[in-house]
Amino acid sequence: MASLSVSVIVGLLVGSTIGVNNGLARTPQIGWVSSKKPKYPLVCSNPSHGCADTLENNWNSLGCDVSDSLLLDTSDKLVSSGLRDVGYTYVVLDDCWSAGRRDSDQWLLADRKKFPRGMKAVADDIHALGLLFGMYSSAGEMTCARFAGSLDFESQDAQAFASWGVDYLKYDNCYHMGRFGTPQISYNRYDVMWKALNATGRPILYSLSNWGEDYVHTWGMSLANSWRMSGDIYDAFTRPDALCSCGDAKDPHCIAPGTHCSVLSIMNRVSAFSDRAQPGGWNDLDMLEVGNGGMTDDEYKAHFSMWAALKSPLLMGHDLRTMSPTTLTILNNPAIIAISQDPLGLAVNLALRDTNVKKDKYGMGETHLWTGQLAGGDQVVILFNAADQDIHMSASLEEIFYYEGPEGSAPQAKQAWDVYDLWAGRMDIETAQKILVDDDDLRSREQLLKEANWYNSSAMSYKEGLKSGDPRLLGKKTSSIAAGGTLSVLVKRHSAEAFRLRNPGEKTARYSMAKDEL
Ligand SMILES: *[C@@H]1O[C@H](CO)[C@@H](O)[C@H](O)[C@H]1NC(C)=O
Ligand SMILES: *[C@@H]1O[C@H](CO)[C@@H](O)[C@H](O)[C@H]1NC(C)=O
Repeated sequence: MASLSVSVIVGLLVGSTIGVNNGLARTPQIGWVSSKKPKYPLVCSNPSHGCADTLENNWNSLGCDVSDSLLLDTSDKLVSSGLRDVGYTYVVLDDCWSAGRRDSDQWLLADRKKFPRGMKAVADDIHALGLLFGMYSSAGEMTCARFAGSLDFESQDAQAFASWGVDYLKYDNCYHMGRFGTPQISYNRYDVMWKALNATGRPILYSLSNWGEDYVHTWGMSLANSWRMSGDIYDAFTRPDALCSCGDAKDPHCIAPGTHCSVLSIMNRVSAFSDRAQPGGWNDLDMLEVGNGGMTDDEYKAHFSMWAALKSPLLMGHDLRTMSPTTLTILNNPAIIAISQDPLGLAVNLALRDTNVKKDKYGMGETHLWTGQLAGGDQVVILFNAADQDIHMSASLEEIFYYEGPEGSAPQAKQAWDVYDLWAGRMDIETAQKILVDDDDLRSREQLLKEANWYNSSAMSYKEGLKSGDPRLLGKKTSSIAAGGTLSVLVKRHSAEAFRLRNPGEKTARYSMAKDEL
């Protein structure tokens, strides 16, 4: 017993005995992904003969329309828009990159039309821009768009990815040949790739995408840096859809998580295991829909705030080449990204859910209180309104700190707090417009970003910025709560209000006390 405790303490001290231990994703990964799965039905029915041409002609949204120039134009835009320096460093290629078949020695082949220089050249160019490169495959005989999959080719494919300079693997779940149905079977199937990636010696962030099947939230952290916990997101805030069959968190036996999951359904599903997020391993709520056009500005702000606070990877899923200024002013908010990148690495939990509110045309309507600890003793609080009406919402300190002690027993409930609004510092549209103007003069753009008071996390990490109390990361102080008091605010229909609570008079975070520095 004594020696066990010692090893547990040693484990805590080195902070790295849990999870995949590849040193990556100590905070959730953030970047861009080449978007959606193809719409069905696909025309490619015989991948052994190669399908890229037919696919290209028959499906023209971004999903399958990937190419060398798409990745490099996107990478350039990440740099020129300042998004790289506010933290978006991964450029992740999704499905449809391959030629659909293997060569005679069974190596994966890139589609020569889409990637005429091969993948290594793309990776090199992405690296030269200070970015990291993500690849895609599936733990099945085919990928979802029916190109060659990696099942039973894990070791060879991992070697190929490593030799191309890949930094990240999104590993999907299509065409798994029935090798699922129990946690053990799924675990084993995904573990082969983790071991193969590890054996290459190259640190490759392992992003597991089995859509929440087989209780992945109970084992994903042992072999992956993140695990998708739901069916695919779609660009809707509350709209229920028959294709998303596992919206109810109380249905653990749901076997077909599907697609078309709204923001609300994913939040409700993750609420039963939001606490499984940890440095090195995160619940993946799927990509961000911000900028894709299906939600209002308020809904996108709420979606982005929640994904950050739940510590989901933050992968933008829109076309950066046509990004609007409004979209930029949501995604570049450093006070929200600082919640995602908080060094403590704890997700918010759902403290209250009220369904006794006005329903929308889909019959959906509820409000939530989400709350969670941040490094240095701060607290993030989100009042989320998915009702079909504006609502004056309130949360008592007792409710906000329920996780630290029930029924008001937490010491935090008995002290006063300053309240910082995380959206008060949102960039104005005119500035965003100027930043997005096409202009190759990077120097003048850097000047522009400087004038816009841009947070540069390449120069100072979020951890350091938070430690020094950088006001851009804290938000704007708007009110305070007396000891034992209540936070009350009007939350508009389909929106969220996001706050950081701080100890009054606290100029910088109390890092010496923080768990993350144990
Ligand atoms: C491989 O796994 C070992 C053991 O967990 C770990 O120490 C090492 O950092 C890993 N290496 C890579 C490249 O993932
Ligand atoms: C951010 O900082 C890095 C490193 O100091 C620097 O190379 C880069 O140009 C800066 N970015 C901006 C937009 O100023």
